[in-house]
Amino acid sequence: MFNFDFYNPTKLMFGQGRIADIAGEIPPGAKVLITYGGGSIKSNGVYDQVMAALKGYELIEFSGIEPNPVYETLMQAVDLVKERGIDFLLAVGGGSVIDGTKFIAAAAVHPGDPWEIVLSRGTAARGALPLGAVLTLPATGSESNYRAVVTRQAMNAKISFYSDFFFPRFAVLDPVTTYSLPPVQISNGVVDAYMHVLEQYLTYPVNARVQERISEGLLLTLIEEGPRALADPTNYEVRSNIMLCATLALNGLISSGVPTDWSTHMVGHELTALYDIDHAATLAVLLPGMLQVTREEKRLRLLQYAHRIWGLTEGDEDERITAAIEKTREFFELMQMKTCLQDLGLTADNIPEIIASLESHDMVRLGENKNVTPEKVRQALELCL
Ligand code: NZQ
Ligand code: ZN
Repeated sequence: MFNFDFYNPTKLMFGQGRIADIAGEIPPGAKVLITYGGGSIKSNGVYDQVMAALKGYELIEFSGIEPNPVYETLMQAVDLVKERGIDFLLAVGGGSVIDGTKFIAAAAVHPGDPWEIVLSRGTAARGALPLGAVLTLPATGSESNYRAVVTRQAMNAKISFYSDFFFPRFAVLDPVTTYSLPPVQISNGVVDAYMHVLEQYLTYPVNARVQERISEGLLLTLIEEGPRALADPTNYEVRSNIMLCATLALNGLISSGVPTDWSTHMVGHELTALYDIDHAATLAVLLPGMLQVTREEKRLRLLQYAHRIWGLTEGDEDERITAAIEKTREFFELMQMKTCLQDLGLTADNIPEIIASLESHDMVRLGENKNVTPEKVRQALELCL
């Protein structure tokens, strides 16, 4: 196992009815900006619960943070924060609202051009206003991590960046808030969380048995509960298990002391920036091809994955690895995801511009061994057609 620091200061407030408890987490007298997206929180009752919980605070709202949050929109919120002297931000929504709010929190106190925060991948951040999160879509783990992803449309750029300043102070995880998710977002969430585990698990062994077994527990739970959430959307236990999986998949725990990959995510961000494809949809399409071109270096871990997750014991090593990749694709399909680029309307003609875009964002040495070059990604994309 490698040396590591594990730091996660976000207080998780889990369970039905917990939105009522947020007032205790926000300093009395704070001027609070409530950020949200396109309005799902108004139709499912979450907005009303937040308003009731924060009676007595001075509340200002900023709505319209879009999926894959856009820099230009977020900068309008930064102006509002400065004009109104906001001192606490409350993000209510999915990963996009929470990521966008992290950027707003940092940009509002940034001495220079806020785009520097994104371009520097977070190292230029000098601080951030305090923020909290009410999660309504289990997927990204953003509610208790230090990451954010922001899109700048004019540059066709979708960039992830990180800073300890971005950790929410608290995150409410009430599974009931997820009952209103449309099936496509249930699927996106389960597949994104599954992919987060794989990006931190399918690398090479460093004898990190705790992290491996926690990862395997998360994968097995998602395989069990994902299809159930589609079939029985108001099952509280199912939603609870998925919500906890998504948070633990990307809160820094399972990446502690182990190598991590993230190449599928980086290529996925290019597909979203270029063609406006949902984040998880890019991952489901890319993973089988990405694994085919990296299967030699991931051999040991793929064999463990084949055995412990899919129970594959028959056949030689190569057959078991091929079968495990196929089982993963079948799971994504069971979750109603597309698993070919052509199903998303892309063809071989798109590959050169995807590669050019990766190169322009300096994504030229990806993966746990820094050897997933644009040429390797091109081979993977051909296998994803
Ligand atoms: O905008 P509203 O009206 O709220 O609707 C949203 C949105 O249209 C809807 N939704 C959310 N909760 C709902 C709901 N609809 C009904 N009922 C509810 N309870 O779902 C749609 C998608 O929301 P979004 O926040 O975009 O989805 P997600 O949580 O999957 O976030 C995706 C973004 O997070 C980034 C992705 O790249 C993408 O930009 N990621 C962030 C990460 C992080 N911060 O650690 C890591 C991830 O790998 C990922 O890259
Ligand atoms: Zn993701």
